[in-house]
Amino acid sequence: MTYILAIDQGTTSTRAILFDQDMKVAASAQEEFPQHYPQAGWVEHDPEDLWNTTLSTCRAAIAKLGIAASDIAGIGITNQRETTVVWDKTTGKAIHNAIVWQDRRTATICEGLRAAGHEDMVRNATGLLLDPYFSGTKVKWILDTVEGARAKAAAGDLLFGTVDSFLIWRLTGGESHVTDATNAARTLIYDIRKGEWSAEICALLDVPTAMLPEVKDCAAEFGVTDPDLLGAAVPILGVAGDQQAATVGQTCFEPGMMKSTYGTGCFALLNTGDTPVLSENRMLTTIAYQLDGKPTYALEGSIFIAGAAVQWLRDGLGIIQSASETGDLAEKADPGQDVILVPAFTGLGAPYWQPECRGGMFGLTRGSGPAEFARAALQSVAYQTRDLWEAMRADWGGEAKVTLRVDGGMSASNWAMQSLSDLLGAAVDRPVMQETTALGAAWLAGMKAGIYPDQAGFAATWALDRQFTPDLEEEAREAAYARWKRAVDAVISV
Ligand code: G3P
Repeated sequence: MTYILAIDQGTTSTRAILFDQDMKVAASAQEEFPQHYPQAGWVEHDPEDLWNTTLSTCRAAIAKLGIAASDIAGIGITNQRETTVVWDKTTGKAIHNAIVWQDRRTATICEGLRAAGHEDMVRNATGLLLDPYFSGTKVKWILDTVEGARAKAAAGDLLFGTVDSFLIWRLTGGESHVTDATNAARTLIYDIRKGEWSAEICALLDVPTAMLPEVKDCAAEFGVTDPDLLGAAVPILGVAGDQQAATVGQTCFEPGMMKSTYGTGCFALLNTGDTPVLSENRMLTTIAYQLDGKPTYALEGSIFIAGAAVQWLRDGLGIIQSASETGDLAEKADPGQDVILVPAFTGLGAPYWQPECRGGMFGLTRGSGPAEFARAALQSVAYQTRDLWEAMRADWGGEAKVTLRVDGGMSASNWAMQSLSDLLGAAVDRPVMQETTALGAAWLAGMKAGIYPDQAGFAATWALDRQFTPDLEEEAREAAYARWKRAVDAVISV
């Protein structure tokens, strides 16, 4: 038997998953690692934690299955995107903690660039907004702040990478300084049309191009692991940022196919084919995947609070014991009440991009209790998805047919998915296979290794668990959505 090892290095934990020749999960291991919050709005990871948990989960998954590393035909890596590591190529050590995608410390750098009139140029080249979310201003901050960093960078001693790039460099014993097009597309310094680092933006941010990794397709030869690490030299053959890997795992290979992943937050990507569509509605333009030198583009919208609204019910309000109770509780809500939660706990993401506003609840009565709160929390996720759905469809061409595939923790809730379909007025497809992110990375590597099917063959393996179809009259749906929009306006203006 031959296996593919997928590494999923996420924001709160690292996982290693072994897939067998039939693309089924054979074994997995997971480890959490500490989050560091040095100041309000700052979020860091120790790069050694990212590395150590990667190595130990890979070793644990291999040991669980009792196989040898030589039984692994290839490794696929998927990762938290945008998180930034700068390391010394001689010592191999990072010169600062990794600055995590959620970190807001470079807001003033972004403000300055916007005030100086650079946003249009950056947006046209990268498809992104001038926001601290992305890597470019984080690299600048590290170089500006760490003593001696600028001189070392100028001398060519420092390397920059997103997490995939750092892990590959370590896994290959410092041999490969590479990344893939999807991770490059989140850095704010990669021109997604030309398919190359933007010299103009690098100059603007004072980031020496010698620090940057070589950009490859998502299925490519990224290097071979140092045999001392896992017991044999294993080729790394697939890489994609986690949301892009989920898009691949959901086989959203045709224009008009959209996936929405419900974790703590929610990230939706709509395949727009070979055209990068610049949004009129504050969505991001990004690379969904790149195969055989050909990028396929996507529109992306991110919601900061999805599953986190359910966590709030559990940990903040204590009205549920476990997340899985939420759907049953919501079902008991009084149909005569119309409680709306706008979960802007950390501001609002796409399409509002309002970092300063905070949440609100509307329509409370003396009779509002846990059931109405549960319904409002689940519906808030559906309403936010509708916001993205409207914005993306408007950007992409109005009435064009869009298919939505869902995954992530909250997609297990039938109640939440029915409510999503009702409020979108569209079908919602939930696949049998829920490990879409790891599967996407594994398929990229397995296809490159020649043991998994090609794109069309892989798409044919996608299997529907359940399709949810709208069960709400259009008038009621539009009235509910109009109330949501008014509630959002209210929290923004308060
Ligand atoms: O853009 C950030 C995203 O890639 C993080 O995903 O699943 O690690 O929270 P996750």
